[in-house]
Amino acid sequence: MKMNPWTLSVLLLLAGPLGADPGWHVEYPDSFCVVEGSTATIPCSFTHPAGLRVERVVWCPNHMFCQGTTPNVYDSSNIIADSRFQYLGDLVRNCTLKIIKTVKQDAATYRFRFETNGDKYTGQKGVRVTVTNGEVVKVRSSVTDNVVKEGGQVTLTCTSACSFHQLDVHWYRNGHALSETGPALHLSYLTNNNTGNYTCSLDSGWQKTSAPWSLFVVEDEDFDWHLTVSVVLKVLFAVFLLLLAGLVFAKRSAPGPEHEIVYSEVVR
Ligand SMILES: *[C@@H]1O[C@H](CO)[C@@H](O)[C@H](O)[C@H]1NC(C)=O
Ligand SMILES: *[C@@H]1O[C@H](CO)[C@@H](O)[C@H](O)[C@H]1NC(C)=O
Repeated sequence: MKMNPWTLSVLLLLAGPLGADPGWHVEYPDSFCVVEGSTATIPCSFTHPAGLRVERVVWCPNHMFCQGTTPNVYDSSNIIADSRFQYLGDLVRNCTLKIIKTVKQDAATYRFRFETNGDKYTGQKGVRVTVTNGEVVKVRSSVTDNVVKEGGQVTLTCTSACSFHQLDVHWYRNGHALSETGPALHLSYLTNNNTGNYTCSLDSGWQKTSAPWSLFVVEDEDFDWHLTVSVVLKVLFAVFLLLLAGLVFAKRSAPGPEHEIVYSEVVR
């Protein structure tokens, strides 16, 4: 939708002046997928009405409020030194959480709670952390071999170990974005231009790119060169015969010696 500047400014006025009091809110991705043993950085941000000071922040698994003595993985008022859960956020607006060397048991829905000198608030939605022991994003192909004949076709699908909901899929060849999006990439009438390394990536709060899948488009070897060559030779031979016949005919109906003299005089 295109808006003229006037409409836009009215909308901005309706939205309130800049720096308007933000409400209570915690923003994190719905879900977050992490490979077992790797480190996950879960993005998170929060807002609260102005004039309040945050005094305590808490991250807890599988609990709606994280209040009081609810088991937690991070508590700013009781920091555990060598915890695999580290708070990368602050007491202002950033509540990013890092999980080091994820283990299967880390799979849970985590919620962030912050307590101010006024009210306290917990981001109810939470972020569902899934731990997978395989590749998070993978390219699968409709062919068993990476070598496909010219003119052939192949369908690549982007699969995710964490496919709870339809995600935006982007495709790349040799690192360059393709215009096609969606979980399947259909390539047909293949030429050598399609040869390359294909990767797909998923867009969400977290972004993951697959390992490359290599496609080699080769000339069709079933193509019968002998047949083609013999046909070409036959055509050439027929043309040659026609030319020969034409020459013989031209010779027969050629003008007599007088003309030849005239011709040579002209040349001279
Ligand atoms: C929050 O902190 C993390 C870690 O320091 C940083 O990577 C991220 O960009 C910050 N987010 C915002 C919105 O400032
Ligand atoms: C594709 O990947 C293979 C092996 O991973 C590599 O040797 C090759 O150079 C890559 N090709 C391109 C065009 O990046």
